Amino acid sequence: MTTSAHETPTTTVPTTDLGAVKLGLVERSQQVRRFTEQLCEPLVTEDYVIQSMPDVSPTKWHIAHVSWFFETFLLTWADPEYPSYHPRFAYLFNSYYNAVGPRHCRPKRGLISRPTVEETYEYRQYVNEHMLALLDRLDGPRLLEAAPRVTLGLHHEQQHQELMLMDIKHVFSQNPLYPVYAAHEPVPVATVPTLEWVPFSEGVSWIGHEGPGYSFDSFAFDNEGPLAVHGGWRIRAPGVLALGRLVRHTEPGLEGTALLGAAGRRLVGDDPERAAQGQPGRARLPCELL
Ligand SMILES: [Fe+2]
Repeated sequence: MTTSAHETPTTTVPTTDLGAVKLGLVERSQQVRRFTEQLCEPLVTEDYVIQSMPDVSPTKWHIAHVSWFFETFLLTWADPEYPSYHPRFAYLFNSYYNAVGPRHCRPKRGLISRPTVEETYEYRQYVNEHMLALLDRLDGPRLLEAAPRVTLGLHHEQQHQELMLMDIKHVFSQNPLYPVYAAHEPVPVATVPTLEWVPFSEGVSWIGHEGPGYSFDSFAFDNEGPLAVHGGWRIRAPGVLALGRLVRHTEPGLEGTALLGAAGRRLVGDDPERAAQGQPGRARLPCELL
C-alpha cells in the first residue's frame, strides 16, 4: 500500500466481537483451504510429484507444507501436546524456517514418492479437523491471540496457491505433449486494446502497510508495516513509462523490450531520454530509500 508523502499513517481499531472473530476465522479457513484443493482439480496423481527444476516444488509438497505451517505455528502453539500427524513430516515439509528444526533439501523435493498424494490429502484433512476443533474451543483472549496466527497461515497458504500455479505451469512446459492446466479460447485480437505507454512522474512516497495488518481485509506480513510502528519507508521513485494493459513478451512492437515483474505483467522504462521519446528502457526501477 502506498500513501502520499504528506499523509499521516493511520491504524485500525481491532474488533473485540469474539463471536464474529470466531465465525470469521472458521469461514475464512474453510474457504482458503478448500480453494487450494480446487486449484488441484485439473491435475492427475502423476502431476503432483514432479519437480521440473530446483526452484519448482511439487504440488504435493505445497499442499503438505501449508498444513505443516498450521501444525507448527498454530496447533502446537495452542497445545504443546498436539499429536502431530507424522513426526517426520516436519523434516519433509519445513521450507526455510530454520528456527523450528532441520529440513529436507529443496532441490530433492521431487524425489519423495511417500507420503503418497492420497496420504498427503489425509494429512490435510487431519490438520483441518484439528484447526476447526481448536477454533471451536478457544475463547476470550486466547482466541484473539490465535487470530493473527490463523490469518497469517491463511495468507501463507494463498501465497503458496500462487506458487502452485507457477510451478505446475513449468512442470507442464517440460512435457513434449504440452499438457495445459486449463484450456481456454484465445482472446480475439479485435478485443485487445491498443498498446499505450502511461507516464508516471518522479516522486517521493511512503511505502508500507497502514494499520495493524492482522485482519483479513487489511493483512500485511510483518516486514511490511505497520506504518505507525515502523514508520514505513520513504522512497524517491524515478519517472517511468508503464504499459497500460497486460502484454505477452512476444507481442508485436515490443521486440527487444525488457520485462519487469513476473509473466510480463508490466514494462517500464527508466531512461529519461528514451522515456521522452515514448520508448521503453531497461527493466529496472531504481528507487532511492530516503
Ligand atoms: Fe511457505
